[in-house]
Amino acid sequence: MIVTIDGVAASGKSSVSAGVAQALGVPYVSSGLLYRAATLLGLEAGTDLGDARALLTCLEAAPPRLEPLASGNRVWQGGRDLTPDLHSSRVDSGVSVVAALPGVRAWVDAQLRALPQPFVAEGRDMGTAVFPQAGAKFYLTASPRVRAERRASERPEEVDAIEAALVERDRLDTLQSVPAEDAQVIDTGGLSLQGVIDAVLAGLPRA
Ligand code: DC
Repeated sequence: MIVTIDGVAASGKSSVSAGVAQALGVPYVSSGLLYRAATLLGLEAGTDLGDARALLTCLEAAPPRLEPLASGNRVWQGGRDLTPDLHSSRVDSGVSVVAALPGVRAWVDAQLRALPQPFVAEGRDMGTAVFPQAGAKFYLTASPRVRAERRASERPEEVDAIEAALVERDRLDTLQSVPAEDAQVIDTGGLSLQGVIDAVLAGLPRA
């Protein structure tokens, strides 16, 4: 069975997906890393990030491959581990443009559908577009303030700036981020990480 966990930026999707996957004894799949890899390779090749054809040429010449390890997902391009470079600020600022390109979305979707199942898939459109047949679908939300406070736990003086950046990220991501009609929506606001994991596990269909 595939379980999908979608949601807004900084809603805790990765940690929740990892915890749920561990409880189920399956890998989790972080789809955002493939958008990040496409962005990194486009930047390194010097292509215009809005040029889907040029990006797809890069991706097809030396395709990045997602390795969904239980301990954390990695992305490889041949023998090179791209993972450490996927959360740089230049990737952060370019990835929304790349993720808006239908050609790149189709490429990412094909990579995800080719992975061995079962798994927990995490992203923005796992339950709506990529795995509409998933056995259970969840959508995580939290207010921008709550998400900013979580992100800013080690630098509280930056909470307002982080909140503003998240609101902007939500605006850029809206196209891809809506709950599936049959998703269970979980407001993570008052919940600990373990509380959200437990809520997801409680929402799974009984075997
Ligand atoms: O989850 P993340 O921050 O690693 O996602 C990176 C970017 O990719 C973000 O701008 C949203 C986009 N994304 C997407 O459009 N669809 C997905 N399934 C996953 C991520």
